[in-house]
Amino acid sequence: MKQVLLAAIIGTSTLLASGPAAAQVKPEEIIKFRQSVYTVIGWHVRPLGGMVKGQIPYNQAEFLRNAEIVADMSKIAPHAFPAGSDTGATTRAKPEIWSDAAGFKKVMDNFQAEAAKLAEVAKTATSVDQVRGQFGALGKSCGACHDNYRTK
Ligand code: HEC
Repeated sequence: MKQVLLAAIIGTSTLLASGPAAAQVKPEEIIKFRQSVYTVIGWHVRPLGGMVKGQIPYNQAEFLRNAEIVADMSKIAPHAFPAGSDTGATTRAKPEIWSDAAGFKKVMDNFQAEAAKLAEVAKTATSVDQVRGQFGALGKSCGACHDNYRTK
């Protein structure tokens, strides 16, 4: 799934290998990829938020579909921060992502866990009340990273 999504997003197989192969990709390409990953994440979180806030009617299938995309994308996100992709184009990624790798991994792991949990809860949630709490937990996991690892 991850590879299919990656290939779909960048239309090439150059990024499929992590490690040394990825390091040969230009920083500006990685940064573009990274911002695209988060753009997709934000895009699919939007209807979830709309449903939770009551701005759009709750639709279980639509909620689940979007939550699953966010969960899949959360698995791609850690691969969008190879060393050396801190500069080279306009990026809001803070140097702490690399200098505090353990702290960054913690918020990334938490984000993945909350996204997976939301997709799981959504499978059986027949009302929006059953997803509201976990949606809030997911939102907190975004903020935990943005507050510390993304510039304003
Ligand atoms: C582990 C860290 C981390 C988590 C978790 C995270 N983000 Fe981000 N996000 C970033 C960083 C870093 C950037 C800046 C990327 C750049 O400019 O290179 C960013 C950028 C973005 C952007 C702007 C993309 C663009 O156009 O440049 C959006 C939208 C976004 N995040 C939404 C979200 C949402 C919604 C969540 C949770 C569902 C989330 N993010 C979770 C680190 C994170």
